[in-house]
Amino acid sequence: MVSTHPTGVQHSGSQYLPQRRDTNPNPSPNQELLPLTARVHDHDLLEIGGCDVTTLVKQFGSPLYILDEETLRSACQQYRDAFKQYYKGESQVLYASKAWNCLAVCAIAASEGLGIDVVSGGELYTALQAGVSPNKIYLHGNNKSREELILAIESGVTIVADNWYELRTLVEIAQPAQSIRIMLRLTPGIECHTHEYIRTGHLDSKFGFDPNDLDEVFTFVSQQSALNCVGVHAHIGSQIFERQPHQDLAAVMVQWLRDAAKYGLNITELNVGGGLGIKYTESDDPPSIEEWVKAICEVIQEACAAENLPLPKLLSEPGRSLIATACVTAYTVGSSKVIPEIRTYVAIDGGMSDNPRPITYQSVYRAVVANKMSSPLTQTVTIAGKHCESGDILIKNALLPKTEPGDILVVMGTGAYNYSMASNYNRLPRPAAVVVANGEANLILQRETYQDLIRQDRLPERLKK
Ligand code: LLP
Repeated sequence: MVSTHPTGVQHSGSQYLPQRRDTNPNPSPNQELLPLTARVHDHDLLEIGGCDVTTLVKQFGSPLYILDEETLRSACQQYRDAFKQYYKGESQVLYASKAWNCLAVCAIAASEGLGIDVVSGGELYTALQAGVSPNKIYLHGNNKSREELILAIESGVTIVADNWYELRTLVEIAQPAQSIRIMLRLTPGIECHTHEYIRTGHLDSKFGFDPNDLDEVFTFVSQQSALNCVGVHAHIGSQIFERQPHQDLAAVMVQWLRDAAKYGLNITELNVGGGLGIKYTESDDPPSIEEWVKAICEVIQEACAAENLPLPKLLSEPGRSLIATACVTAYTVGSSKVIPEIRTYVAIDGGMSDNPRPITYQSVYRAVVANKMSSPLTQTVTIAGKHCESGDILIKNALLPKTEPGDILVVMGTGAYNYSMASNYNRLPRPAAVVVANGEANLILQRETYQDLIRQDRLPERLKK
């Protein structure tokens, strides 16, 4: 049976191609399923960044993360330009690199004028090695180690202080006459509708100072010459489609600015975090990057005017909406299992180790077959990973053309929290990643080898044969 669209039109993988540029010259990447450069060539083959996906897999192996540079740059530019357009004060977009932290991605974001948000010594080290300017790096984390704090201080990055333990540690390790540039992370007590694990702004969160402690925190910070507190920060969660929670947050944060002034603190920066969602399936309908930025800027400007406060430097730190849509993961189809009347499993050569989101958050993805883009979608199958775990299912009920071993299955929207959360479960080597642009593909992450897998293993003498 050939599946048909509600319009009666038979559909194929091509239905997921981005909106045509002639009708929308500047589509918001977070509102598309495939990267902006995706095309079908030679009738049936998927091309991204001018490169044929099946050829990329032959050249770089499978599975393969394919990052479209134009989509990533376009998202960076849309954030940057929207803040310029809608905010009358100074602004700075930071890339929340936890979404995908590696040298090439940090370098691309920085070359677009973005700063980088890092959450560990490892992410910080990577951003510095990528050449990101320390004055555009912000270190987060709810339990930064002394070593991480020292690295941050020595590198000259801003520390987003999360709790009392950290404030006291900073005062302790500061050199005489040193003034450490910090921001304060506060929990705004705002609920949003997203998965419980990726909500952070509600009161019962492990992140940030309790707003009821504001008085004590501002008093303490204002008395420490070792601490140069320049701003406040909050982040309410991830994959959010509603605009209201972020607008509420912006209004609450302006109240914090007003309160800080009473303690003699000269707070000039306000960081509203990230969280804008992306389209993972046809039914997802997030606001565009521009709409999200505009909504926040308006609230801050109105609230500052009402309080008679000068406009702060406005920072935001999106991760997912900058990079998720820019990347797809290409897998090779292998075995399949038909359970009559129940389900057909089609297995691919990766799974929960390269994309742990479905098993962790029940995240839903869509896929196309890169070598059958125009074929009718005739079967509903379950895409199974190759791990020894029944829950290792990438997509339930994927509507696909008839697949055969060797077909290249492309899962869309995998740029955020896939590589960065990847593991070696079952000792699968992590895939390679390439960046594609103008018909050229460059390796940005080498595929791990079996030697890499045992590189950190040590075999005590007495266990050797
Ligand atoms: N800023 C802070 C302080 C954050 O904690 C996060 C995300 C962001 C910015 C970026 O948020 P985004 O724009 O990407 O929504 N692993 C989960 C997502 C965890 C998000 C953690 N924090 C997932 O795969 O959905």
